[in-house]
Amino acid sequence: MSAHVINGKEIVSSYRAEIKEEAHALTARGTQPGLAVVIVGEDPASQVYVRNKAKACEEAGMYSEVHRLPEQTSEAELLQLIRELNGNPKIHGILVQSPLPKHISEERVVEEIAVEKDVDCFHPTNVGNVTIGKDAPLPCTPAGVIQILKKVGIPIAGKHAVVVGRSNIVGKPMALLLLREHATVTICHSRTPNMEEITRQADILVVAVGKANMIGKRHVKPGAVVVDVGINRLDTGKLAGDVDFEDVLDTAGYITPVPGCVGPMTITVLLRNTLEAAKRASQAETAVKA
Ligand code: GUN
Repeated sequence: MSAHVINGKEIVSSYRAEIKEEAHALTARGTQPGLAVVIVGEDPASQVYVRNKAKACEEAGMYSEVHRLPEQTSEAELLQLIRELNGNPKIHGILVQSPLPKHISEERVVEEIAVEKDVDCFHPTNVGNVTIGKDAPLPCTPAGVIQILKKVGIPIAGKHAVVVGRSNIVGKPMALLLLREHATVTICHSRTPNMEEITRQADILVVAVGKANMIGKRHVKPGAVVVDVGINRLDTGKLAGDVDFEDVLDTAGYITPVPGCVGPMTITVLLRNTLEAAKRASQAETAVKA
């Protein structure tokens, strides 16, 4: 039996339509949600991501500005820009595209972003709030994966979820959000021996490593849900996920395609986080006036 290929386009377009409607309603009440995206350097993949984020923002009726800074920008200059954006009332979300050039500390930069404008959920305060289950913007890619599972109607509670990868952007927060949904969670990484034995126990397998086609059918339990977060550019110029799609297709029960599922859903959560930040700013302003 061939796996059900999850239709990301359908899920994303209905979710974005909801966000657009809410954004218009908020704009009509005097607050247009606004996102600032900052990119330092010329990394070609990052340039594409940033363009896509700004475009999605505009399509959803939001205000967006992109700050493209040269590779040699100093940390002090970047921190100054962030402080300006923190104080700019048109901006409700700030995203600094990762990776940054080596001479800039990502940790320092993320800490400078106002907690209420941290739509990536990278700030330690927001990471902590998500960890203890307090209200906070949710990390975009992991929250997008949870949304996909929910929209398809895949139960998470009580299931064994295995996450491959332990990055701060995806692996760790992914495990946390699956735990919040009451899954039993295991994390595998580069030092995990016999990884196949563990991944083969997964009802839900989420892969976020950044290595093209590293997961094959030998890693997958028949009928499992396979979510591929990876997006890798092959020498041929084609894009490939971390999962060997063709190899896994006859074993998995569900599979997300690359490109066209987790990537666009990540941007959709970013829009949602920006909208929610704008709503909170608008409420705070109304409270001050009252
Ligand atoms: N680089 C890769 N993914 C992301 C993301 O979700 N946010 C930011 N800021 N940078 C990234």
